[in-house]
Amino acid sequence: MQILDGRPVRDAVLAELTGRVAAAPRPPGLAVILVGDDPASRVYVRQKEKACSKVGYHHVTHRLPADTPESELLARIARLNADDEIDGILVQMPLPGHLDEERALMAVDPQKDVDGFHPENLGHLVSGRPRTVACTPRGVLRLLAHHGIEVAGRRVAVVGRSVIVGRPMALLLNLKDAMGDATVVMCHSRTPDLAAETRRADVVIAALGRPEVLTREHVAAGAVVVDVGINRIDDPAAKKGYRLVGDVDSAAMQGHAAALTPVPGGVGPMTIAMLLENTWEAMVRREGSR
Ligand code: GUN
Repeated sequence: MQILDGRPVRDAVLAELTGRVAAAPRPPGLAVILVGDDPASRVYVRQKEKACSKVGYHHVTHRLPADTPESELLARIARLNADDEIDGILVQMPLPGHLDEERALMAVDPQKDVDGFHPENLGHLVSGRPRTVACTPRGVLRLLAHHGIEVAGRRVAVVGRSVIVGRPMALLLNLKDAMGDATVVMCHSRTPDLAAETRRADVVIAALGRPEVLTREHVAAGAVVVDVGINRIDDPAAKKGYRLVGDVDSAAMQGHAAALTPVPGGVGPMTIAMLLENTWEAMVRREGSR
């Protein structure tokens, strides 16, 4: 079974961006807003900061307490929208329950929406002329392309329909262009026979956010499996008391799937790389429109 490692691909993207930043009149600027102390979100945000430092981006992180009122969050976003040094704004999801995620995403200037979650950017994707595309789906396509895995003309099953991954993933895959042209089935919690759908697919993309749900019965022999999930499960034998697993039972894929993305180290690094690429592109667009 081929292991689809995302780390060397991320490193190549970051190296390319480092060169571009060195030759640019100013570095791209990324602002991250993290509300509360969700442990997984804290890890993601630290990884984003590390990657920004590595390539020489200007970056700021606004860490806000879990009980931050909505007016304060929206005021921060408005200030960042008006900040000339900031090209990209990312509001880390999920937000604490009292905050309306839709309202926060709508408040981000669509030109600075490096997540591609604003309805304007989702609209460009639906219309077939994508502008800023969500980082994880974009990273999945880049990872497959890097490893020479074609999706054009093949059946792809996407499991999960979140705005962060599943929905933009399915839309990108069926676009009429060199990276899409797949026949896509989108599965979710109300799909009557999930295994029957995913077994028909040449490529299965798991983005449910539940640990090790997809097993051998869900995957055709010789299929390619992309595991977007990162779940913590208790493990008393582990130093931290938990370990990270994907949405796919990776042991069950051995000797069965043709290729699998590892967790961690597969899709995760690609998401970071695409965030930095989206931020670069946002800067180029803003500079070009002055
Ligand atoms: N939470 C999990 N993944 C993401 C992401 O790509 N962007 C944001 N903003 N929040 C997330």
